[in-house]
Amino acid sequence: MGFEPGSKQLQDGGRNSKGLYHKLLLLLTVIGINVLAFYTFSRSSNSHDKDQGSNSSQQELNQFSLTSNALIVKLSQTKEELKNTQHELQVAREELKLMLDQIGELTRSHLIALQAADRRGLQKQPALSHIPDSAELQALIEPRKLPLGWNPSLNSDSMVAPVGHRCLMQDEDIKKFMDYELGGTCPDDESLAQKLLLAGCEPLPRRRCFAQTPANYSEPYPIPRSFWEGPPDGNIVWTPYECKSFECLNSRAKRKVFADCLDCFDLEGRERHRWLFMSNQLDYTIDEVLELKPGSIRIGLDIGGGTGSFAVRMREHNVTIVTTSLNLGGPFNNFIAQRGVIPIFLTIAQRLPFFDNTLDIVHSMHVLSNWIPEETLEFILLDIDRVLRPGGLFWLDHFFCLRPELNKYVPMIERLGYKKLKWGVGEKLDRGRELQEMYVSAVLEKPIKRP
Ligand SMILES: *[C@@H]1O[C@H](CO)[C@@H](O)[C@H](O)[C@H]1NC(C)=O
Ligand SMILES: *[C@@H]1O[C@H](CO)[C@@H](O)[C@H](O)[C@H]1NC(C)=O
Ligand SMILES: *[C@@H]1O[C@H](CO)[C@@H](O)[C@H](O)[C@H]1NC(C)=O
Repeated sequence: MGFEPGSKQLQDGGRNSKGLYHKLLLLLTVIGINVLAFYTFSRSSNSHDKDQGSNSSQQELNQFSLTSNALIVKLSQTKEELKNTQHELQVAREELKLMLDQIGELTRSHLIALQAADRRGLQKQPALSHIPDSAELQALIEPRKLPLGWNPSLNSDSMVAPVGHRCLMQDEDIKKFMDYELGGTCPDDESLAQKLLLAGCEPLPRRRCFAQTPANYSEPYPIPRSFWEGPPDGNIVWTPYECKSFECLNSRAKRKVFADCLDCFDLEGRERHRWLFMSNQLDYTIDEVLELKPGSIRIGLDIGGGTGSFAVRMREHNVTIVTTSLNLGGPFNNFIAQRGVIPIFLTIAQRLPFFDNTLDIVHSMHVLSNWIPEETLEFILLDIDRVLRPGGLFWLDHFFCLRPELNKYVPMIERLGYKKLKWGVGEKLDRGRELQEMYVSAVLEKPIKRP
């Protein structure tokens, strides 16, 4: 069936060329006859002049003339037809040229797009064997054509929105997360978002709904009041937490509930004194660390910085610190922001969102420790090195491990090739000496040049 139109065209084409052939043959015949007629006519005229002619040849001549005229009419008709055919051919040829040009143009742009896609790895996209059945998720991650066409900065003619590849494997959770009323209020699902994040769905997909807002929000306190006075309960969405107030959070420490950073929300407690006083070889003060590089420590990062007290103390020294934190058991991100310093909602597994060789200092306390898989820790340390500027400081604050593990972790830290401006190894005694728990604290300087 599908083949028929093609073969029909072929037949038509054959018929056309056959017709043309016939016309040409006719034309040649007519020309031949005319030449003959002309010849005969001139000959008979001559003979007429000579012998006054004869009745029969005159007749013949008349007859011939008649036939000849008819043929000439036919000839001009054929000529006309031929001219038409030639015109049609010319039109067809021009159309063909136009089509070929268009095909060429299409092929060229297609090739450019393919090359660009290849460079940007778009070609590998079909390797995603499974995309959860969510219209909003698909709407988000679908590459879209740029309204103004090719963009040399993007090196592409389309824009793609990233989501962590693990998002696509959390089938039920991601479908639930992306199920909302378009342009409406988002579900009250902070816990689900964090669960996805911790499962490697990072970055989380964007959504087209309005995030939940606190029930009774009031303007944050001005700096410096905000540094050491926690926000009112009304400024927090409490749904994801067992506690529904700061009073409850602060009482957890006394009730010996297991949670990270148990007493961090109590700004009158231990938080108030951190990094202010030298107590042993593991605790350094912010003053003495900044004194190592007077004036040139201006911006930095605190990884897993609890409620942001390190950033606040550094801010008091005119140093700007961004604090990464999750909301494990409490509203850490909101609290940090309410204090007037910057939180980033980021897991330890995510690549640091800073450019190479940019930060003056990276600090981390109680977070980088032996609970992180060894190879993952190596990736993290090298990422910290990447964002630190040459001569920048890596303040490793209370790295925790067991005594036998020092053989593994100390060389790992030393492999960074940093200068040990401060270095201390000490026993962690709060649970008893027999557990052989150890802390390493260090302030390390990134080399200006690597050999
Ligand atoms: C020519 O032929 C016509 C009729 O065919 C005839 O009437 C006439 O006499 C003929 N003339 C000559 C000169 O033979
Ligand atoms: C709302 O917040 C303000 C300021 O923190 C507080 O005084 C007030 O009692 C709160 N209202 C309710 C209903 O929680
Ligand atoms: C911070 O900067 C302010 C304004 O420049 C200055 O007055 C203050 O002394 C600085 N504080 C410290 C600890 O350097």
